[in-house]
Amino acid sequence: MEVKALSFKVEEVKDPVGIFVFEDSTENLQFLEGFREQVERLLSVENFKGKEESLSKVSLLVDGEVRVFYVVGLGKKERAGEDTYRTAAALLTKRANKEKVKRLYLYAGELDFRTSKAIVEGAILGSYRFDKYKTKKEEATGELEELYLQGGHQEGIDRGKVMAEAQNFTRDLVNEPGNVINPITLAEIAQRVAQEHGLECKVYDEKDIQEMGMQALWSVGKGSATPPRFVHMVYKPQGEPKAKIAVVGKGLTFDSGGLNIKTGDYMRTMKMDKSGACAVIGIMKALAQLKPMVEVHGIFGAAENMPGGTAYRPDDIIRAMNGKTIEIDNTDAEGRVTLADALSYASNLGVSRIIDMATLTGACMVALGEYTAGLFTNDEEFGEELLKLSRLTGERLWKLPLDDKRLREKIKKGEGDLLNSGGRYGGAITAAMFLEEFVEEGIKWVHLDIAGPAHLREEFSYYAKGGTGFGVRTCVEYVMKLSEGT
Ligand code: BES
Ligand code: MN
Ligand code: ZN
Repeated sequence: MEVKALSFKVEEVKDPVGIFVFEDSTENLQFLEGFREQVERLLSVENFKGKEESLSKVSLLVDGEVRVFYVVGLGKKERAGEDTYRTAAALLTKRANKEKVKRLYLYAGELDFRTSKAIVEGAILGSYRFDKYKTKKEEATGELEELYLQGGHQEGIDRGKVMAEAQNFTRDLVNEPGNVINPITLAEIAQRVAQEHGLECKVYDEKDIQEMGMQALWSVGKGSATPPRFVHMVYKPQGEPKAKIAVVGKGLTFDSGGLNIKTGDYMRTMKMDKSGACAVIGIMKALAQLKPMVEVHGIFGAAENMPGGTAYRPDDIIRAMNGKTIEIDNTDAEGRVTLADALSYASNLGVSRIIDMATLTGACMVALGEYTAGLFTNDEEFGEELLKLSRLTGERLWKLPLDDKRLREKIKKGEGDLLNSGGRYGGAITAAMFLEEFVEEGIKWVHLDIAGPAHLREEFSYYAKGGTGFGVRTCVEYVMKLSEGT
């Protein structure tokens, strides 16, 4: 989709015009000039008030030609934030795509960098769908090709486009099933993205993994016919970086549970267990284009958790790269085992901060619902920065505690240094505590448990059913903030 800031007059364009209005306010309708009165009357017949997430289509016959206006509600002006615009723009483009609109003009009042960016993000995210495997494309939908934003801030538009396209790229990867994306092909995709964008990328195969002492990742991956991979992407700015950080993702291309096999209902959608790794690839793709003054390491272990004859077992005791031993209580708590090695590896890169994203626990979904990710941190300030950004990006994060000493005891039982499951209660917390054991002292760390919002059973707002690309925008925003100091 092409998106441009443009100054246009409503009488001069032939294509549909989308107008954003606040609740009980006709302020932005002024833009309609000669059409205003008619549009307002038709809106009142529809009882359209400009409430959040409401949309009304008004068609007028002008000199024998049909003019279409999509009027979208923003809710109360004093409560509208960036995400209000993002959601409204998505509502608009979802509808416009359904009606096969190719060119759309938008008016949303005075626009600054952030609002322009949010509108473009919403427009592009809202246009997403995953239909490559439909032999007959749904006839009812078209594809929006050009978008013009009245008074838009071109830099904000460009930034929003990079952000949303990276998120959509991540969604595409998440939505690919396990017969298409396995550890080998996921690593190849990372390599291809790196090549396209001039990033460094090193892929370690199963032999390297064992030689580097990553017995944890190896153990999880070895029950599958497709061996695991370990991927390290690097973005380096030109000149002295202001900071060095790592983003780490959980990359289970499929999670059957292993020998502690899942039942059918729970195994369904487990192709999404690679969402953290897919987010890492999307983040690196965006950063390569935005070129912040921050060095960023994108890291993931890719594995398939399967119950083959060579699978790891309950009772196994294995040694992670940092030397700590793990006793396996449950082979379905595999994500934290793979992350043990990924976090150990990331700790050796000389980075000051690590963010990890993982579809780690069903318990986190029980705690927070499926639309909010759990945030855990060993550094209050770092956590607070991400929480603040999440309120802008609309990627909901909520902090959960790591300071419960008695709960921590539950993963210290058994015959190794750690047990890979702390039982049912506080399952998201004990999983995060387990991860903390592999982050080297002195490194600031945030863990995002994205089990809920990484994948949706139903569409809403700017999300389609399936992979969401959750985490991409918040992480990219964070890096840009480190770079720009805003
Ligand atoms: N990948 C799952 C977590 C998950 C569940 C993500 C549902 C998205 C939706 C993870 O590997 C897992 O199986 N976790 C277990 C841990 C338990 C065995 C300690 C869980 O949450 O039940
Ligand atoms: Mn599992
Ligand atoms: Zn899993």
